[in-house]
Amino acid sequence: MKQKLCSLTNILKTAGRVVVTGAFVGACVALFASSPTWAAGAGQAETMVRNVCSTCHKFAGEPASRFNLKAPDLMWAGSKYQHAWLVGFLSGKEKRLYAKSYRWDRGWEPDAHVTLPEDQAEAIAAYLEKRYIDPRVEVGAFDVSTVTKKEAEFGAVAYREHACIGCHTIKENGQLVGGPQSVDLAEAGRRYNPDWLYRFALNPQDFTPHSGEFLADATDFGVRAIVGYLMTLGVPGFNYDEPWTSPEFARASAERGKVVYQEYCSQCHGATGEGDGPAASGLSPTPAVHAKMAFDKLPVEYLYNVIYHGGRSVGKSPVMPYWGLTIGQQGVADVMAFLKATFTGAAESTPARTGTGSSGVCPQPRRTKRAPGTFRNMTNPVPANAANVKAGETLFQQTAQPLACFNCHGTKGDGQGPMGAALNPPPRNFTCGETMKELSDGQMFWIIKNGSKGTGMMAFSGMPDNQIWQLIHYIRTLVE
Ligand code: HEC
Ligand code: HEC
Ligand code: HEC
Ligand code: HEC
Repeated sequence: MKQKLCSLTNILKTAGRVVVTGAFVGACVALFASSPTWAAGAGQAETMVRNVCSTCHKFAGEPASRFNLKAPDLMWAGSKYQHAWLVGFLSGKEKRLYAKSYRWDRGWEPDAHVTLPEDQAEAIAAYLEKRYIDPRVEVGAFDVSTVTKKEAEFGAVAYREHACIGCHTIKENGQLVGGPQSVDLAEAGRRYNPDWLYRFALNPQDFTPHSGEFLADATDFGVRAIVGYLMTLGVPGFNYDEPWTSPEFARASAERGKVVYQEYCSQCHGATGEGDGPAASGLSPTPAVHAKMAFDKLPVEYLYNVIYHGGRSVGKSPVMPYWGLTIGQQGVADVMAFLKATFTGAAESTPARTGTGSSGVCPQPRRTKRAPGTFRNMTNPVPANAANVKAGETLFQQTAQPLACFNCHGTKGDGQGPMGAALNPPPRNFTCGETMKELSDGQMFWIIKNGSKGTGMMAFSGMPDNQIWQLIHYIRTLVE
């Protein structure tokens, strides 16, 4: 074995700088032919790392510019990867990381890599994981099991807003998108040890200085969102955390929540939840009237997000602050317990009724902004068949994200949902023919996509166009 390794080293030397040909890789595979004793020998792993891997990779010393290296630094190899990925990479089962070559200044072909039989890959991985631990990487610094869907959503937005997509590829609808200058991140969730990724994100220059890397202007909150997002990539069925099942919620206290409400919420929503706090007079949209909301009927995920992550996180106004940083998970749990115990939407039983609609005001005063002409004149391109109306109904009554329409517009479409009475202006009464005949398909499409600024009607910007058109077909069936 030793001899074989030596002869490989010779090949590497004669192979010159770095350029590895297909023929060379073939030779490697042959040379490392599997042997039954290999897996047992950490000594052999050490020898191979020293004699083979070190000819390209650096395993000690300070991190250096990519332009002075042949291959990525591996001083922290024991902290960086997930075991299964590392074994897969070393045994040739993973895609290349650098689509345009690690040293793209010398050529734009992806680099070939030595391929080891699985038992040797296992032994090398185990050796690296024991020998090359980075003391800067705090074990348990990033707990993947606490990543929520909303955080991953934020991370996905931040990934674009901080130009990550300019230099790293990800997968979108099965296609690779982004600039292939540096590492492909499409499989990041299978590749990185999250603790390493988090430490890297705190200061990339501690690992890859002068390599074309980029420092994003992100708070710890933002870094966590991006790292959380990356850890979902390449992991089908990622198991998102649901904070409302956490211990903080199990021990939530409406008593404590009452204090939180007084200290933080009443300044806008009013001491008794009437939406008349001292700040309210200057706000558009006006703060929701909690006293008229049936909190026990609202989806917990929505309530949690609008309070913890703020109005913007659910397509509503950023004037509703994000409270997570201020009052923490326990504070959010407590104030939610208080809202549920205190406001049950009793006021809903006395809605103003006039005109011909089944309930809700009809005709309904309407000051909604007119859609631009190009939208206003659009007609529904989706056929008005039973299947599409049914799909629209399901979205309206159950599945629309971040909140199903009935919560405000009511199950009958009369504007009397669990949150309907809390909003000023009130939700549109779709049962009222007189008001609805003024609304073109294109007008509705535009409002559903962008929201109605200064009102409680949120933007459903993430909804595919064809679903919006299905909703419009369904809404048209609600007129009485
Ligand atoms: C001929 C030079 C060369 C040799 C020899 C070599 N590597 Fe590499 N290695 C590279 C290059 C180039 C890359 C980037 C490959 C890519 O684009 O996927 C790489 C990537 C890697 C990575 C992923 C690095 C990252 O950015 O996270 C690991 C891990 C790795 N090699 C381990 C090894 C081990 C272990 C050995 C010895 C068995 C070895 N390499 C031998 C050139 C080499
Ligand atoms: C201007 C180009 C550029 C931008 C923008 C950029 N990066 Fe990088 N990134 C790099 C380079 C260069 C490296 C160093 C590794 C290398 O040599 O390719 C790197 C390294 C990384 C690594 C470590 C790769 C590894 O396996 O060693 C991660 C993870 C990463 N970037 C994530 C991000 C994220 C997240 C963002 C957005 C906040 C971002 N990058 C923005 C160029 C960029
Ligand atoms: C700076 C003023 C302000 C403060 C302080 C404030 N809110 Fe709000 N809140 C708003 C506004 C404005 C809206 C309406 C947002 C919209 O419709 O786009 C709102 C809406 C809401 C809603 C209803 C969401 C919906 O879908 O309409 C809830 C629930 C809520 N706030 C809870 C709270 C809680 C709990 C606190 C205290 C921890 C709080 N708010 C503090 C301004 C505030
Ligand atoms: C959080 C409460 C809320 C939710 C959830 C909600 N809406 Fe609304 N919606 C409103 C309010 C309030 C208005 C009135 C806006 C105005 O007066 O400009 C409105 C108005 C509308 C209008 C009338 C636009 C116009 O030009 O008059 C349409 C159409 C509409 N919503 C569709 C939907 C659909 C479809 C959904 C679900 C995908 C939905 N809404 C979910 C509160 C809501």
